Amino acid sequence: MQIFHTVPEIRNWRENNQRLAFVPTMGNLHTGHLQLIREAKRHSDKVVVSIFVNPTQFGVNEDFADYPRTETADCELLAAENCDVVFLPAVEDIYAANAQTMIRVSQLSQNYCGATRAGHFDGVATVVCKLFNIVQPDVALFGLKDFQQFAIIQTLVRDLHLPIKLIGLPTVREIDGLAMSSRNNYLNEKQRLCAPQIYRILQQARDNLIAGQSIFEIEQQAISELKQTGFEVDYFNVARRSDLQAATVDDKALIILTAVKLGKIRLIDNLWLDK
Ligand code: PAF
Repeated sequence: MQIFHTVPEIRNWRENNQRLAFVPTMGNLHTGHLQLIREAKRHSDKVVVSIFVNPTQFGVNEDFADYPRTETADCELLAAENCDVVFLPAVEDIYAANAQTMIRVSQLSQNYCGATRAGHFDGVATVVCKLFNIVQPDVALFGLKDFQQFAIIQTLVRDLHLPIKLIGLPTVREIDGLAMSSRNNYLNEKQRLCAPQIYRILQQARDNLIAGQSIFEIEQQAISELKQTGFEVDYFNVARRSDLQAATVDDKALIILTAVKLGKIRLIDNLWLDK
């Protein structure tokens, strides 16, 4: 496995290689990431993983400084998965000191996580676009836990005519249902015991939707139950999967999306359903 730190290094390597699959990450890898890498192999000759904690997607009061950086352990995991290349740039390699260009996927970035995390999705869209330009993959893989992020990247690829096939993989869960996330590492013992309730409440909402209960009631009920369980609720919404607009009774392909906080730790999850 080769480790590159600069853009010229990876560009130079890219020239001599055929079909490339790319898994962008912020490191602190868990089984969810490893599943992306295993799937990536099925679509390419070589697999590139980037590890870059992207400053522009963190708000001023968010956890950029504290975000877990575990590069040595990450590289060991990647080597064990027979990953071909790890791209580990410094912030200066990605953002020039006077960088002025940002990418915004306007409509899709406004709601849900975008409503409370101002600029977050502009940061994501910008870094993903830069990484796509640097690595020039044929295929890129993302986890669907961040469904809004995936929808934004799909729109970016379409709007900018990037010749990249996107693959989204289902959320990987712990045995008790908690969606895998690097942020789970911040949870204390009590919070960790509470966190799987997110998935339970999502499942209950899905069952109630199938049983015909109104979307408004389901959302209100879930919010109140999450609060009683000890979460601060950022949002809990039933949306259309196609465009993430609020769902109506006639919509068939739905997604239930939620973001909650336990203390300072923000967790997101979602569940799909087809009526
Ligand atoms: O999902 C993530 O880990 C990040 O948002 C991504 C896509 C690597 C961009 O920094």
